[in-house]
Amino acid sequence: MATQVKKICCLGAGYVGGPTCAVIAYKCHDIDVTIVDLNEARIAAWNSDHLPIYEPGLDKIVFERRGKNLSFTTEVEKSVLEADLIFVSVNTPTKKSGLGAGFAADLAYVESATRQIADVAKSSKIVVEKSTVPCRTAESMRTILEANSNENIRFDILSNPEFLAEGTAINDLLYPDRVLIGGLQTPEGIKAQQALVEVYARWVPTDRIITTNLWSSELSKLAANALLAQRISSINALSAICEATGADIDEVSYACGRDSRIGPKFLKASVGFGGSCFQKDILNLVYLSEQLNLPEVAAYWKQVVDLNEYQKKRFVSRVIKTLFNTITNKKIAILGFAFKKDTGDTRESAAITLCKDFIQENAKVRIYDPKVSIEQIFLDLSEPGVIDSAKQLKNRVTIAKSAYEATEDADAMIITTEWDEFKELDYEKIYNQMHKPAFIFDGRLILDAEKLRNIGFRDYYCQLIT
Ligand code: UDX
Ligand code: UDX
Repeated sequence: MATQVKKICCLGAGYVGGPTCAVIAYKCHDIDVTIVDLNEARIAAWNSDHLPIYEPGLDKIVFERRGKNLSFTTEVEKSVLEADLIFVSVNTPTKKSGLGAGFAADLAYVESATRQIADVAKSSKIVVEKSTVPCRTAESMRTILEANSNENIRFDILSNPEFLAEGTAINDLLYPDRVLIGGLQTPEGIKAQQALVEVYARWVPTDRIITTNLWSSELSKLAANALLAQRISSINALSAICEATGADIDEVSYACGRDSRIGPKFLKASVGFGGSCFQKDILNLVYLSEQLNLPEVAAYWKQVVDLNEYQKKRFVSRVIKTLFNTITNKKIAILGFAFKKDTGDTRESAAITLCKDFIQENAKVRIYDPKVSIEQIFLDLSEPGVIDSAKQLKNRVTIAKSAYEATEDADAMIITTEWDEFKELDYEKIYNQMHKPAFIFDGRLILDAEKLRNIGFRDYYCQLIT
């Protein structure tokens, strides 16, 4: 018989830990779920009417279970002490300095969370690695936990990577393609694995719950993201060829996607992928390959990231070239700042790179995004080395409250995020209020080119790729 999980604690109330554990509480009313974070403001927000992250469907689930079997707190010790299963969902950013800087994941938070569990625990626990980590991190966690266990306390470690995508997190969690649970293939490991299987089995069909060994599970997460990102870089590489030859990338993508062996998903050409995972996970894979003395494999995956950078640069130079080789003091309206629609998350968003480049070229940038806050935009753009003084930045960048405000008197309008509302704008109105000649650059290929040409953008309309 597997141990029955009655109390779950989640360390890290971020984009992953928050929605994942809220859904567990929603589906398992007899399990007490506590989500813990060191960040007091974040916990206060989780306990308020305005949750700290925007995710369609999340409010309803949190409001329904909060105060019943779902709670948010900063009290780490108490929560760890009481839990039988602990998710480690803290962030794992790419290292900024030291060994593996720019590639390897910074595991300091994972390690401190693990040490905290070891210090506090007075009974046996199942510790679940939820954060995306380089392969074999579970091993280090296990070493720390084992060094601190005795005959009365044992720690079993599992890897249960998240496959949720932001913007569709709740749906992904309620109806996952698969849930992956890796564990050590020892009798105790298998028993722990089974305990977590039983939690998910409350709402996920058992043929979708995959159990593997620890390392397969850890590597599968990196591999899945690398394969997804690789499709985008492949289609974006082809977009450059389309632009040079007159082929239409959307048509090419459709024709290829109709091959059932290839499939239609993740073949949308864009201004480049963003988000907290793709680049970080691929760089992890690159670092791992190098560590394993597999330089060709490392170079292969590295190219997926390089191509993404190239795509952003290519887009910027296309804009400058079209605007008669200079954008000095020209007004550029940026529509969308999040890394994709239906999220307020800006981590690694292509819009950041684009805006920084436009600022360097002395353009006046006016940004509108339906979900990203003004503070966040300035924070993302004011990283050291780009524009140092806040005053200087404010001279170059303004934030608009609507797409119409952003495009007033603008020389060019750029779609950087594929928000649905951008498809429904009154483009006639926008055309009339823009500086002529008026240019549109559709970095997400969501607009109807023909319609825009008829409005008057005719000779100046410019898709990213055709
Ligand atoms: C996730 C995954 O966990 C990460 O591995 C993945 O690669 C990116 O996405 P995410 O939930 O998006 O992370 O990160 P974030 O929103 O930053 O949440 C992490 C939370 O952990 C933060 O709220 C932070 O305050 C908290 N934290 C961090 C702790 O509570 N304790 C710590 O020691 C460190
Ligand atoms: C991703 C994975 O999809 C998810 O399984 C994993 O757990 C975390 O990382 P996420 O980063 O939230 O999720 O977003 P995703 O929908 O994968 O999009 C990533 C980026 O690729 C976005 O910037 C998106 O706009 C871009 N993209 C996606 C394209 O440019 N073209 C496409 O066809 C698809």
